[in-house]
Amino acid sequence: MGSIVIDENYENCRKLLKDSIGSKRYMHSIGVSNTAACLAMRYGSDVKKAYLAGLLHDCAKGLKDVQLVETVERAGIEISPLETDNPELLHSKAGSVVAKDKYGIDDKDILSAIFYHTTGKPGMTVLEKIIFVADYIEPNRTDLPGLDDIRKTAFVNIDTAIEMICKNTLDYLKKNGKAIDRATVDTYEYYRRG
Ligand SMILES: [Fe+2]
Ligand SMILES: [Fe+2]
Repeated sequence: MGSIVIDENYENCRKLLKDSIGSKRYMHSIGVSNTAACLAMRYGSDVKKAYLAGLLHDCAKGLKDVQLVETVERAGIEISPLETDNPELLHSKAGSVVAKDKYGIDDKDILSAIFYHTTGKPGMTVLEKIIFVADYIEPNRTDLPGLDDIRKTAFVNIDTAIEMICKNTLDYLKKNGKAIDRATVDTYEYYRRG
């Protein structure tokens, strides 16, 4: 697909999304899409793609655990043992499937930005970085440690912002005795090295 057409489809998209994920998550999604568009302006990425990827990044959040597993399996995507134990982690992978099947998105950049938005990965594309960061810093986020600093840094050096977000996430998971996804550690190590 070339450039995304965001006219009446985009309206449909928003209605469908709100019905699927509820108004609170919908507001979060609107926050991510606006923030992603701003980051795209800063980093010379396609603003409309960033907006749409931000809007749809959590489009699988309304699915139940069994549906998440089923959606990902049906698409032939590998499920890690951690994801088997915590199916909610699959909402990003499932989201790329739902965005394609339900919302008609066939743009690979958008789909991969949705796919990797929870953990990030080493060597992300600019759009993948933008969605990963926008998810964390969007205005509706409740206050997280160092959030003001991360918000500022996101518009100065996005790689440093990714490092800070991963560090925060890993600290939070460790402190609360929650399972750590290897992918988050890999992302942190990669962006820490600069
Ligand atoms: Fe998410
Ligand atoms: Fe999100």
